[in-house]
This record gives sequence, structure tokens and C-alpha cells, in this order.
Amino acid sequence: MKFEKEILCIGAGYVGGPTMAMIAHKCPRYRINVVDINPEKIAQWNSNRLPIYEPELDEIVSGVRGRNLFFNTDIGAGIRAADIIFVSVNTPTKTFGAGAGMAADLQYVEKTARQILEYSESSKIVVERSTLPVRTAQAMERILISDKPGVKFEVLSNPEFLSEGTAINDLENPDRVLIGSQQTKSGLKARDVLCQIYENWVPRGRIITSNIWSSELSKLVANAFLAQRISSINAISSLCEATDANVDEVARAVGLDSRIGPEFLNASIGFGGSCFKKDLLNLVYLFRNYGLDMEADYWEGVILINENQKDRFVMNMLRNMFNTLAGKKICVFGFAFKANTGDTRATPALTVAKKLMAEKAEVMITDPRALGNAKNDLQDIAGRYKLVDDPYEAARGCHAIAIMTEWKLYRTLDYKKIFKSMQKPAFIFDGRNIADHDKLFKIGFNVFPIGKAKMVHF
Ligand code: UDX
Ligand code: UDX
Repeated sequence: MKFEKEILCIGAGYVGGPTMAMIAHKCPRYRINVVDINPEKIAQWNSNRLPIYEPELDEIVSGVRGRNLFFNTDIGAGIRAADIIFVSVNTPTKTFGAGAGMAADLQYVEKTARQILEYSESSKIVVERSTLPVRTAQAMERILISDKPGVKFEVLSNPEFLSEGTAINDLENPDRVLIGSQQTKSGLKARDVLCQIYENWVPRGRIITSNIWSSELSKLVANAFLAQRISSINAISSLCEATDANVDEVARAVGLDSRIGPEFLNASIGFGGSCFKKDLLNLVYLFRNYGLDMEADYWEGVILINENQKDRFVMNMLRNMFNTLAGKKICVFGFAFKANTGDTRATPALTVAKKLMAEKAEVMITDPRALGNAKNDLQDIAGRYKLVDDPYEAARGCHAIAIMTEWKLYRTLDYKKIFKSMQKPAFIFDGRNIADHDKLFKIGFNVFPIGKAKMVHF
């Protein structure tokens, strides 16, 4: 069968994999090829055990894999065959040289652009799908100047807004799809080609276009605003704890103002995930780069509050558990950075576990999906910890439970049974405010929510 379009995605990660699976699912007339430098990851995409856990992803992939969705490692052949290339390689925070700890590390994006140039034998549209600092497209365009006759590249920005755990729904019913292009004739033509792909399932009104720099910047700003809301409510949670106000009640009252809205006001142990901190750092670096220091400080505050929230949490445990955690067993419920994913990148649970181990506590870690990643994250960490599948087993004999991830499971456990198996006095520190605190208190736990009065028996 001859396919109408050949689409390539470079980078088979959390973004590339689900995005391409959705395009393949919605557009049977397009052939989608996903390549990655990591052969193990490709083998997993071709197996029954996908490299990432995402609700509904398995079903979608098994419906299209081998039909119009293919995973392999032949980057050169993939580039040659493609009309459109999505670049979804990772853009971590730089760990070396100028901008270390702040700027985005663009080496993989640049290497990918050079590979595209090397292997291309015809003109192509190159889509930035990774999150990049504003004006990266300019660097891409400068690299992608071909001396082969008739070979031209048009670079577009099409940032992803998918959220892990709901990625499939976010891809299927997006609030908006953003496509940034150069405002030249060829730029606008390329933009229309990409619009047409999304029009296969996204209403035209939700596909918005802009200049390419606005598109690049919008992604950073969207994530910065979301992270800012969490740090804002988390900052308020400290004040609530000091004044016996209840952060959930405050969030509800504030969120009912239609100008503010109710989403993303859940006080927590702090945000994690591969994006928020990285993108904020990236934004702060951009501000500093342009000499906008006051603005940089403002956004840096969002990160500082997030770090403070984790410090506060562990200090609260320490203070309330009689100022020593040494030799105590603490059970960590949840290691993923949020529910419904096995992803542990920048998870607050790791920071908390490390701090507890630094206090010489023994940490029992349980999570329904993330123990594989937890094992990798913890392998070089000194300290006593165990990874335990069963939450009842993990809590047995512990002095305290710290809830780190809002898995539904942790709302519905038999806490009476857990209480019986723990050391007394038994403590529960709910870093997600998901448990039924009154019920836990009645069972006998000393309960410490976020942003609410503690409930103690002594
Ligand atoms: C994405 C975006 O690309 C990033 O910019 C955004 O901010 C977060 O989400 P993600 O899909 O989550 O990254 O990253 P990851 O799961 O690490 O996937 C990236 C993939 O690219 C990896 O599988 C890696 O092996 C692959 N890769 C990396 C290449 O194929 N080639 C390279 O040169 C580098
Ligand atoms: C985020 C953005 O939501 C998404 O649009 C973007 O494309 C990628 O980055 P993701 O990191 O997958 O997605 O998860 P998100 O749901 O935004 O949660 C991020 C972190 O904030 C999690 O640790 C989550 O638990 C935390 N969070 C979220 C809160 O602490 N409180 C809230 O009210 C919401």
C-alpha cells in the first residue's frame, strides 16, 4: 500500500512514542516511523512491554504497530524516506560549562539536525517537538542549509502539551495544538501541511498558529505558569499550617473565581516531572541572558518555593517524631512524580527519601508502577532502603508513612490493618492530601496533612 505521507519521529520517549501512536491511530493513510538511538528502547516498543506506562497506550500501539506505525533504529533510512520529521529528543538541563544547572543542553537537538542534513536527499519539514529555548529554530535553520540541489528544509515549532498519566486523552482531545512557523511563503505552506495532519481529528478552531519564536516561548511560559500555581498554593500551605486555616478550603474559595479557576491548586509535596523545573530553569536562564534580572529572580522563586516545600515536609517529620529519625523505619507510599505513570524523573519522592536516609532512617519504598525506575534512581545512593511491591508489607513495622504520590490505591487501603502492623505511636504524613484524615485519626494515627492543622493523640 502506498501511504499518503511518510512521517518520521526521532526520539521514542514519553513524548515521541505516544504522539506518534496517536497520529498513526487517527491517520491510517500516513506511515509513521519512530527511531531512537537506544536499541533497547526500540525493542521494548516492539514488544508487549512498552518502555513507558501510560493509560490506554498499550491498546493504541497494538492496534497500529506493524500497520502504519513502525519502531526501529535506522535513523538514516528513516530520514531519507520522510516528508515530515518530528524531533522529540530530550533536552535536559545542562550539567557542564556555561549555564550548567540552568540552560537547556541542546547537544542532542543539534546532532539530530546535523543527521537530518546528512541523510536527506529531498526537501523536508522539520518539526521541533521537544521543548526548546526561544530562538532554537534559528540555530536549526542555520544548520539545515543544504548544498544538495533542490533540498530545502522548513523548521516549525509544535510544542507538546501532554501531561503524563493523561497523555492519550490530551493528544486525542487537546485544549489547543500550537504550530509556529516563519511568516514566509514557504513557512506558511509548511505550517498548513502540519495543520492538515492534526485536522484529521482536532477541530480547526483548536489548532492555533503563531510566529515561530512565540510558539517556542509559549511552551516554556505555559509550564512556568502551571508550576507557579503549584508554588503559589504551596506557599499558602505553610501559612495555613501556621494559622489553622485549611489550604483545601482556601483553594476552593479562590478557585471558584472564574478568572482564577480551580485546576492546579492542589497543595502538595511539590511538583516533579521532567518538565517544570527544567523549563523554569531554562526560562530564568533566558531572562538572565537578556539582562532581565528582576524577572529572572521572580521566576526563580517558583523553583525555590518548590524546594522549600520538600525541606519543610521532612523537617515537619523530624520535629514531630521527637527530633530524631535515626534507626526509625519510614514507609514511602508512591515514588512516581504523579499518579498513573511509572515516571520518576525529578520526583519529590526521591528528594524526600534521600533526606530521610541522611537522617539515618530506613526507608521502605512502595509504588504500583515506579519501582523499576526507583531501583535505577537509588542505585548510587548511600543509605538503607528497600523496594517493596505490597504496600501492607512495606508499612509493616514502620514508625511512619509518608504519602508521596496521589495513587488512588493509597486512598482505599485498609488503614486499620496497616495501623495494627506499625510501631506506635504511628504517624502519617500526607504529602498529597489524599487520605481520609478524620478516619485515619480515629483509627489511631497521628495525622499531618499539607496546609491543614495536624491531628495528634498526644
Ligand atoms: C520530551 C521532550 O523532548 C523534552 O524537550 C521535553 O521537555 C520533555 O519531553 P521525553 O520524550 O520526555 O522528552 O524524553 P525521553 O523520554 O528521554 O525521550 C527522548 C528520547 O530521545 C530517548 O529515547 C533517547 O534515547 C532519544 N534520543 C536522544 C535519540 O534518539 N537521539 C539523540 O540524539 C538523543
Ligand atoms: C506538565 C504539563 O502539565 C504539560 O502540559 C507539559 O506538556 C509537560 O509538563 P506533567 O509534568 O506530565 O505535565 O504533569 P503535571 O500534571 O503537570 O504535574 C506536574 C507536577 O505537579 C506533578 O508532580 C504533580 O503531582 C504536581 N502537581 C500538579 C501538584 O503538586 N499540584 C497540582 O495541583 C497539580
